[in-house]
Amino acid sequence: MLENRNINVCLVSDLFENYPLSENTIVVVVDLLRATTVISTAFNFGVKEIIPVPSLEIAKTYIDREDFIVAAERNAMPIKGFDYGNSPFQYMNNDILDKTLVLTTTNGTKAINIASNYEVITSCFINIDAVEEFLLNSNKDVLILCSGWKGVFNLEDTIFSGCLANKLISSKKFNVNCDSTLASLNLYEQAKHDYFSFLSNSAHRKRLKFLNIEKDTEFCLNPDFKSKIIPTLKNGKLVAL
Ligand code: MLT
Repeated sequence: MLENRNINVCLVSDLFENYPLSENTIVVVVDLLRATTVISTAFNFGVKEIIPVPSLEIAKTYIDREDFIVAAERNAMPIKGFDYGNSPFQYMNNDILDKTLVLTTTNGTKAINIASNYEVITSCFINIDAVEEFLLNSNKDVLILCSGWKGVFNLEDTIFSGCLANKLISSKKFNVNCDSTLASLNLYEQAKHDYFSFLSNSAHRKRLKFLNIEKDTEFCLNPDFKSKIIPTLKNGKLVAL
């Protein structure tokens, strides 16, 4: 039986309020390069929970607290005075085991906070299979929320959204009445054979290349491990569903 469920893609978090939302909507936040990849990496390596904060000032209030790690990024660069930045490779260690990670990034944590009045999970290529299964079994509408870059569109979040949307729509459980979803599906079809090459001229890949961290881009687009953990927002904290 075709379930009457809707899927939408919001291409930039600033447009979030323009979309049909209810308690029957699951918001999937995506910031592929690199915040939601960092989030899944940190959970995979044993972090206890993650507090996504919107500002550096709030993040600073957690510094020096026992069993807390405080991470900050702006313009793809780590911020002086904080324990960590926003590279997934920083979280591939046992130092984060059972710690609370406080994270603030340019776009990704902003998107999570924008959607915080709704049911929110985060996704990336590390946990996309688990997220697909969870959403198919949820019997809820889905809004994939692209973080974008400082209020404008980016390619990588849209391509990922197309990949996830394609999986969901293939189940025949979702209706598509959203041009952003159609656009993301088309971009995904063009990029799916080689994300890294397709994004060779993308703004954020060039930003990260300029900072000599192309390895982050390569990992985020093709991670070498998968996780079944679905980071889920509960009372302002991301916990492992
Ligand atoms: C973001 O949250 O805007 C991105 O993850 C920035 C980055 O760290 O590359």
